[in-house]
Amino acid sequence: MYLKRVELKNFRNYSSLKISFNKGINIIYGNNAQGKTNLLESIYVLALTNTFRNVYDTDLIMKDRKFFNIKGILKNSKLDTTLNISYDNIKKRMILDDSEITKVSSYISVMNTILFTPDDLDIIKGPPLVRRKFLNTELSQLYSNYYILLSEYEKILKMRNDYIKSGALDINYYDIITSFLIEKDILIFKIRKKFIERINNYASEIFKNITGLSGFKIVYKPNLDYSEYDYDKNKILEVFKDKYDSEYKFLSTFYGVHKDDFEFYLGDFNLKLYGSQGQMRISVLTLKLSEIEIFKKWKNSTPILLLDDVFSEIDEIKNNNLLNYLSRDLQVIITAVSLNSFNKDILSKAKIFRIEYGKIKLDRLNREVKDDRRTL
Ligand SMILES: Nc1ncnc2c1ncn2[C@@H]1O[C@H](COP(=O)(O)OP(=O)(O)OP(=O)(O)O)[C@@H](O)[C@H]1O
Ligand SMILES: [Mg+2]
Repeated sequence: MYLKRVELKNFRNYSSLKISFNKGINIIYGNNAQGKTNLLESIYVLALTNTFRNVYDTDLIMKDRKFFNIKGILKNSKLDTTLNISYDNIKKRMILDDSEITKVSSYISVMNTILFTPDDLDIIKGPPLVRRKFLNTELSQLYSNYYILLSEYEKILKMRNDYIKSGALDINYYDIITSFLIEKDILIFKIRKKFIERINNYASEIFKNITGLSGFKIVYKPNLDYSEYDYDKNKILEVFKDKYDSEYKFLSTFYGVHKDDFEFYLGDFNLKLYGSQGQMRISVLTLKLSEIEIFKKWKNSTPILLLDDVFSEIDEIKNNNLLNYLSRDLQVIITAVSLNSFNKDILSKAKIFRIEYGKIKLDRLNREVKDDRRTL
């Protein structure tokens, strides 16, 4: 799939913007604080309804305005879909073609994006919560059922925690609510396990393509490995029961996928502990590039890749390897402070935009290319 066009109204520092993208590589460059990340953010919100930045929806509305609107035209296997999302400080509205959508899960599975931002280094460096959030966001795009499953899990988990905190001690009820939790636990575990296995089918090759180094892998660290109990709910219930006493002491649920984690390895080295800054960056990028292959297989469509300022801290050789890897049948929207990181070959293929204070112009380099890339 690819994004043909985006129109913004009152989003961040854009009062009004209309922009048409190329099917392949698009480069948006400009100085700091001009709106590069904001533009990628608008595309992300269009796809997923929420921002990746840690802010309230209100912050997305241009200062002193009352609403924002993002419209996008998505091309997928010859069909155009129009997505529209708006927010007026009260209600978020999602529209697909001409129909208003009320279920977030139905909306977010339509347009698939994969985003890389400098903050994604937290996926390797940050606490487990960040990695679980990553798994949840990605899997919700891949499967609309996952989003529903996760909401159900969280509801049961909250009920169970509330029950523990209430101090009530009806063992039968405790067993029942635990069994409900285990049922969802197993399903989420299976999906996450399969996802990480699939990532590993591609990750080592991609990491090698970029860095020349072999042995990259991602290791799932589930809080409880349900496969060891043959997914037998009774056996697993016994394991949970062993911790009932300590749950009453610590007032929270001891086992479950809400405590899962995963790690990055190069051979035997845990990259969180031993990786260089550039290696960590490429590790997270590898994770995201592997996902593209999974989207292709599971959803039969290629997601749109959004790369925010990806080239800092990566040396020229790896940069070029990465760019070569990206020059395939894939829409990529890349932001950068300058065009220095791009070689001639990429520049001749890309549609290039220059950005200044929320205004975007086609770069003069495009004139040298004879095709339809001249229109904004
Ligand atoms: N709600 C808003 N209304 C108006 N302007 C906003 C709003 N939110 C952010 N901005 C402005 O957007 C600009 C930052 O944009 P953005 O983060 O996209 O910059 P950038 O081009 O990615 O910069 P860098 O290269 O430093 O990452 C700032 O000038 C900020 O004041
Ligand atoms: Mg930025």
